[in-house]
Amino acid sequence: MAVVTGAASGIGQATAIRYAREGAAVVAADINGPGVQKTAASIAAAGGQARAATVDVTQASQVADLVADALAVFGQIDILVNAAGIETLVPFLELSEAEWTRVLATNLTGPFLCGQAAAQAMVRTGRGGRIINITSINAEVVLPHQAHYAASKGGLRMLTRAMAVELAPHGITVNAIAPGAVDTPLIARSLADPVRREMLLRHIPLGRVARPEEIASAAAFLASEEAAYITGATLVVDGGWLIT
Ligand code: NAI
Repeated sequence: MAVVTGAASGIGQATAIRYAREGAAVVAADINGPGVQKTAASIAAAGGQARAATVDVTQASQVADLVADALAVFGQIDILVNAAGIETLVPFLELSEAEWTRVLATNLTGPFLCGQAAAQAMVRTGRGGRIINITSINAEVVLPHQAHYAASKGGLRMLTRAMAVELAPHGITVNAIAPGAVDTPLIARSLADPVRREMLLRHIPLGRVARPEEIASAAAFLASEEAAYITGATLVVDGGWLIT
């Protein structure tokens, strides 16, 4: 079974739907309760097995409840995808400590809390597992006004590698997917702004932003048997952004 955070929208939603289509039972988790209910309902309507969980990934007690509930219902957790995340654009010279802390809490502390709780459950059940963190090409490169976001994603990239080292003896692989620009509500404002959109597209050799389903494909691969020997890696899914 798979736990997917950020499953009310965008990449997390597409991943939850893809996993369910592949036959996995899914716990779709998100701070947006009605949104995640909709994801679970659409999975169920398509004949899949899904449970919605309203969770703020920055709150350790809510994350503990999420994992306990998944274990109580399904007996084990095989896959965790950390897709919950936020992005704001703020010039570095104006970036408040509160905004810095908010973005780091969601994008870095959240995956730490969820990853640790899920890994503890995986170790206890002794069947190994897969953890997939959605980072970003902003773990490597930045555009203006992304200091806090880029720092959170760079941190998550290294957390992925650190967890991979320590969890390997337990048969748990930990990998990252680094999307470029993906057509989701997260970057809707940038895509709607002709100047920012043009700036984004200039970086993308394939000449278009990704669909969330194209990131879900990578998440399906990293959770599959085909990826059993891959750990600590970042799978870049960016239409070529990082090679230019
Ligand atoms: P999205 O905005 O469509 O979905 C993010 C989801 O995370 C939302 O449903 C939101 O309610 C949830 N969320 C936010 N804070 C939360 C919290 N504290 N607890 C639980 N859930 C919370 O965004 P998208 O694009 O699907 O983003 C998913 C991940 O992919 C994020 O980590 C984002 O940084 C990353 N990413 C997105 C890119 C893009 O261009 N859309 C590019 C690179 C990375």
